[in-house]
Amino acid sequence: MTYPTYHNLIGGEWLPAASGKTILNVNPADHDDIVGSFPSSGPEDVNAAVAAAKKAFAAWRLVPAPKRAEILVRTGILLQQRKEQYARDMTREMGKVLAETRGDVQEAIDEAFYVAGEGRRLFGQTTPSELQNKFAMSIRMPVGVVGLITPWNFPMAIPSWKLFPALVGGNTCVIKPATDTPLSVYNLVQTLVDAGLPPGVVNIVSGSGGAVGNSLVEHPDVRAISFTGSSEVGSHVAQRAAATFKPVSLEMGGKNAQIVLDDANLELALDGALWGSFGTTGQRCTATSRILLQKGIARKFTDEFVARARALKIGNGLDESVQVGPQVNKSQIETSAKYVEIAKKDGGKLLCGGNALTSGDCAKGTFFEPTVFAVTPEMRLAREEVFGPVVALIEFDTFEQGIEIANSIDYGLSSALYTKDLNRAFAAIRDLEAGITYINAPTIGAEVHLPFGGVKHTGNGHREGNGAIDFFTTWKAVYVDYSDKLQRAQIDNVE
Ligand code: UN1
Repeated sequence: MTYPTYHNLIGGEWLPAASGKTILNVNPADHDDIVGSFPSSGPEDVNAAVAAAKKAFAAWRLVPAPKRAEILVRTGILLQQRKEQYARDMTREMGKVLAETRGDVQEAIDEAFYVAGEGRRLFGQTTPSELQNKFAMSIRMPVGVVGLITPWNFPMAIPSWKLFPALVGGNTCVIKPATDTPLSVYNLVQTLVDAGLPPGVVNIVSGSGGAVGNSLVEHPDVRAISFTGSSEVGSHVAQRAAATFKPVSLEMGGKNAQIVLDDANLELALDGALWGSFGTTGQRCTATSRILLQKGIARKFTDEFVARARALKIGNGLDESVQVGPQVNKSQIETSAKYVEIAKKDGGKLLCGGNALTSGDCAKGTFFEPTVFAVTPEMRLAREEVFGPVVALIEFDTFEQGIEIANSIDYGLSSALYTKDLNRAFAAIRDLEAGITYINAPTIGAEVHLPFGGVKHTGNGHREGNGAIDFFTTWKAVYVDYSDKLQRAQIDNVE
């Protein structure tokens, strides 16, 4: 089979890895379908990309922010025109179904238009000075060269959450796409280039986390790192970055609970649970991986949920009738299978699924059945992230117990409560330890203009969405003294 060869983007030139090494990007729904060959880069490629970004920073930081933002407007318009093609490319390289990859591109479009508005804001503050004839204000400054490390589950949306705010803030970027899904980052960056982005402002270096990610994190000229991925890798990134005092924005794991109370609209709760659990084949940080059921509805919900999970159509996401695509690679289905074994050993009850699918339409891909377990809160499946189509059902008695179980884990990204009781809804908004709480809606589906991120092991306090500008700019305090004399703060009295 013939397939295209892609190169790194360094200083506006498309270049192979210095070593000449490549990695094949393979369709997880059909291993005979090779999407393309991508560079398997190393530290020397990172060095070249950082040098190019550093050079480009000198001019880019001086481009007025509204002008930088115009490139994002044009990018958003081009993405609208290219949406279908980019969605198809994404389904081929990542596996999720077309409706979802269209949504992924749409999220990048939303981000482009949202962040473009920041080009005419980037507000700072003015504040009175304690001295006469002295003016005080704070202004946002770019950080410099920033390193972006992006995941495979939202191969265009998440890169856009990082690239666009970084760019409007006046930074230049080196982005390392996930090894499994580089094409969507190429498509996104190509669009920025077509929209008029100058050479060197965004550079792409493809390759593994070990070779490319580490050198980016350790590079002395990289001023900040934004990472989305597992809590385990995030912890390493933060530790490595600490050596050069780089700010790091970490967006990591989740073990998100949907709580269903006895008074909930059960149909709505079932729809939400199915979409939250098996959308993106369960491979979202925001995926519903625990469903906490109050005793009165537990039985009915469980029977109906299992029946619906069994009926989901699994297959190649390019087929519009398919509801659940493959997992992204072999290692992900191995993790799903591992957790099925762990849950069984812990005494969990397998209600449906539990196996990789290896025959018929699924013979050439990495497919795993939608899997449902009944477990208790202390079992590992109730506490650890799987990042696959494996969901844990847990029963509880009172509302307070439901909240307690939801909070009893290390993660805190998303959460959902289904109820008609307004008082409990507001109590849950206050008490759930999570960066996001939905009432009567699933744990997935965050919108780009709100803060995105979580507490506990999910993050380190930063937010994407409307929080990203804070990460990608740094404050400068400015004092202008127009008194024409020396005025000493804290010492001289104003008459
Ligand atoms: C992720 O899984 O890392 O809220 C991001 C959602 C999507 C983004 C998910 N808008 O589910």
